[in-house]
Amino acid sequence: MKDDLPFNLTFDDVLLKPRFSQIKSRGDVSLRTKLTSSLFLNTPLISANMDTVTESKMAIALAEEGGIGIIHRFLAIEDQVAKVERVKRKTNLIIENPYIAGPEMTLLELKKLMKEKESHGILVADEKHRLLGIVTNRDVVLEDDMRKKVKEVMTPRNKLIVGKAGITIEEAKKLLKHHKIEKLPLVDTHDILQGLITLKDIVEIEEKRLAVKDKKGRLLVGAAIGVKGDFFERAGALLSASADVLVLDIAHGHSEIAVNAVKKIKNTFDCELVAGNVATADGVKDLIAAGADAVKVGIGPGAACSTRIVTGVGVPQLSAILECALEAQKYSKGKIPIIADGGIRSSADLMKALAAGAETAILGSLFAGTDESPGAAILKDHKKYKLYRGMASLTANLAKKRIDKEEFDEEVAAGEVIPEGVEKLVSYKGSVHEVIHQLLGGLRSGMSYLNAKTIKDLHKNAQFIRITEAGREENAPHD
Ligand code: XMP
Repeated sequence: MKDDLPFNLTFDDVLLKPRFSQIKSRGDVSLRTKLTSSLFLNTPLISANMDTVTESKMAIALAEEGGIGIIHRFLAIEDQVAKVERVKRKTNLIIENPYIAGPEMTLLELKKLMKEKESHGILVADEKHRLLGIVTNRDVVLEDDMRKKVKEVMTPRNKLIVGKAGITIEEAKKLLKHHKIEKLPLVDTHDILQGLITLKDIVEIEEKRLAVKDKKGRLLVGAAIGVKGDFFERAGALLSASADVLVLDIAHGHSEIAVNAVKKIKNTFDCELVAGNVATADGVKDLIAAGADAVKVGIGPGAACSTRIVTGVGVPQLSAILECALEAQKYSKGKIPIIADGGIRSSADLMKALAAGAETAILGSLFAGTDESPGAAILKDHKKYKLYRGMASLTANLAKKRIDKEEFDEEVAAGEVIPEGVEKLVSYKGSVHEVIHQLLGGLRSGMSYLNAKTIKDLHKNAQFIRITEAGREENAPHD
């Protein structure tokens, strides 16, 4: 990357100079990149660890598109673990521990289970996991009597097509196709359940070629931890649930408490750890020295952040990324990547953040308001919105106290909290897959203007120019 700018600029202060390009089509651009020193993504997108942005659905969507989602930590440990596990189950072609209903369960209980697990078809087995049947939504919707037992409505074992444990995917596909069925339970010679293969998973996997997976073929997922309280126990539980990366969630990452947390985690667990947030070269240096596998950059640029106006502290994001990326190059043979966190409002901002030296970017507001973000849409003046809030906002602070089961008086606490974040409604945007499609299309196009076939090329070829207010006006469609 080339940096001949005076520091302290942000995305709107600059443009990237085009250069002679040999790229014939956007399809020739690869977005493969490094999340940490040893974890790779196929697209440079990370969804923010915020409670209005990333839970299982968002994390699944991001990993399917080649990026990764970071499950937020504003949850009890077991709930955060359950969300990681849900992502891990998603495209495992063989679901090793399928959800099970007992034959004596009532339809009311079954409906609750189906809703909780977001599953329309559940296998029925006895307590020794012997397969007894399958029960689907269709068996339940038209039933009036919810006291009926599962065994009365299920398709029994003798009518089920099953596969043997160890079956190949090709054989499973043949069985599913031949018998026109959607679920294939796998059993051993004693009829004990060994797993489940579903048609939906096979089709989805074949469609999602960019998806990023772990060694067992499961989607990648990250999870956030704090730096005090239960953070250590939380880290252990998340790693046991196969989280691929832990992300330290602290506003001021260049602090003793953050550095000590990095050391403690890295000295105890064999794991990938993203640390931050920082906005200076010194911050990068200290976190890398403590053992960070990637460093997040961003103090106050986010769409729901009020840190800068509350505290007067921060560094405009483009300069922060440039300074931190240059510093990171000095250690571990330049293998520790920089993550741009916050302030990205468009594909152009994403392009500039990466051109400045980041390998990946964390997005909050752009992914909020989609089908995959947590929470329901709200109708206001005939328009749909979803809530987006900073994790240091007043309501997020109070929610965290409730989760921690702290004893506190809501009114007193509301007066004591000094929020560094806001909450707001963002327009409902539909599927996050469409948002990602637009972002990556813009990024690929931007890279082709710079003759950058890879993100590494982009770092090399980028030349920023500072623009004036008149230049900024000229940027947008006008007249
Ligand atoms: P965007 O702009 O993508 O930014 O919405 C997402 C990032 O914002 C950070 N974040 C906060 N920063 N106060 C802050 O100063 C907050 O309450 C807050 N909540 C989130 C965080 O780094 C996130 O990834």
